[in-house]
Amino acid sequence: MYRNINALLVESHISIRDAMARLDRGALRVLLLLDDAGRLQRTITDGDLRRLLVGGATLRDTLARLPEKTAVSLPLGAGHKAALDLMDRHQIDHIPLVDETGRPCDLIIRTDLRSPILLSTPHLGDQEREFVEDAFRSNWIAPLGPNVDAFERELADHVGIGHAAAVSSGTAAIHLALNLLGVRPGDVVFCSSLTFVASANPILYQGATPVFIDSDPATWNLSVPALRRALADAERKGRLPRALVVVNLYGQSADMAPIMELCDAYGVAVVEDAAESLGASYRGRASGTWGRIGIYSFNGNKIITTSGGGMLISDNAEFVERARFLATQARDPAPWYLHTQMGYNYRMSNILAGVGRGQLRVLEDRVAARRGVFDRYRAALSDLPGLGWMPEADYGQSTRWLSVCTLDPEVARTTTTGFIAALARHNIEARHVWNPMHLQPLFAQCDYYPHEEGHSFSDEAFRTGVCLPSGSNLEAGQIELVCDVIRDTLTGR
Ligand SMILES: Cc1ncc(COP(=O)(O)O)c(C=O)c1O
Repeated sequence: MYRNINALLVESHISIRDAMARLDRGALRVLLLLDDAGRLQRTITDGDLRRLLVGGATLRDTLARLPEKTAVSLPLGAGHKAALDLMDRHQIDHIPLVDETGRPCDLIIRTDLRSPILLSTPHLGDQEREFVEDAFRSNWIAPLGPNVDAFERELADHVGIGHAAAVSSGTAAIHLALNLLGVRPGDVVFCSSLTFVASANPILYQGATPVFIDSDPATWNLSVPALRRALADAERKGRLPRALVVVNLYGQSADMAPIMELCDAYGVAVVEDAAESLGASYRGRASGTWGRIGIYSFNGNKIITTSGGGMLISDNAEFVERARFLATQARDPAPWYLHTQMGYNYRMSNILAGVGRGQLRVLEDRVAARRGVFDRYRAALSDLPGLGWMPEADYGQSTRWLSVCTLDPEVARTTTTGFIAALARHNIEARHVWNPMHLQPLFAQCDYYPHEEGHSFSDEAFRTGVCLPSGSNLEAGQIELVCDVIRDTLTGR
């Protein structure tokens, strides 16, 4: 962080009273004393001035009474990590940065470094507020309203699909999708194993049984060979799945063409869980638009957010119309409240849709920024032995929603858990890759198809993968600090 430090620069001829007033105005609890040549001589804190007064000085005395002290400083351009180390060593909270002549140019303060570096935080643009204020001005606060209609239309246009229904979460959208596809108690539904539990829970909501499919090491997404084996087995047993929930992991599309081809051949409907891949592409088309029904999430950690929300998309107008109906308590058209079916309260509010409209306008910027974060990590750390990266498949563009690295257990000096803890000691949030569904106690009874017989890739991804801070609002200094801590951790420095 660059800050204007002119107000903190003092010379030894000023009085202690004036110095106290400057300290007060500067509000950074430190002044920088210059020598006659304008070089940094030392820092001055409240405590230094108090000790002068306790030692017999008066407020009219000058700073020339201060004892000699070697300035603790770093050269301009020094990183946060070096500053933090120096602060800890000297038990101080400020480090001035000096140019080659010794003149102070910037100041790093411990509190700058202490704010946590989080995995993925909301990053709002300039327009969300306007849409939300419109909702306030028109008192259109309650569910539905013009922002909801516009958000649905704008998102559908953006990804190039016919229709969209804005709902309260990505999970709700998956639940509605399974309902629309007729998933009933006793049905089987296939699902990617390497995912967040929200992909699979709606299968249970419908009383159906999940069967989990592994990922391909080349894409970390649904393994086509495993899917092929699972479908062939299901056909043999006479228990073909009613649907497949295919997940696009960490911003990257699954290999949708062969998946659609296989599922079409067996008459299995595909729900594309694109909660993590809005903004990505697959073979020139938007990720999320390949399945019969697609879903997005606008959860707070996603690439764009409405604080909480989701979208169900499809080219099938009837599906989307019915999704809206089910999401609004399945209220039949009648002059009074009339219900012939069970429904849900799953619609998005007009205020949150306003946030979504603003966010959609910056989606491309957010994709570029997240890809930039990943590129910086890879460029800065590529020489570290044992450190690898989630691959990007050549069939499309990932958003790198999360930057995911891997640690080779044979080479790295730490486990993923140790690595995450080392980052946490520096107030950096990193997370394990999803613990696959087939390893969850909740799904212990469910069948699972690994990528190859005897080789489950998602177990390996969970064991070796770590998600690093990835937000589009990360500052260069924060990424640099993360890189420094990773380097130190993996080289044992
Ligand atoms: C792959 C995946 N599917 C579904 C969801 C559920 O979305 P939401 O949190 O909006 O319910 C999430 C994220 O939260 C997710 O990562």
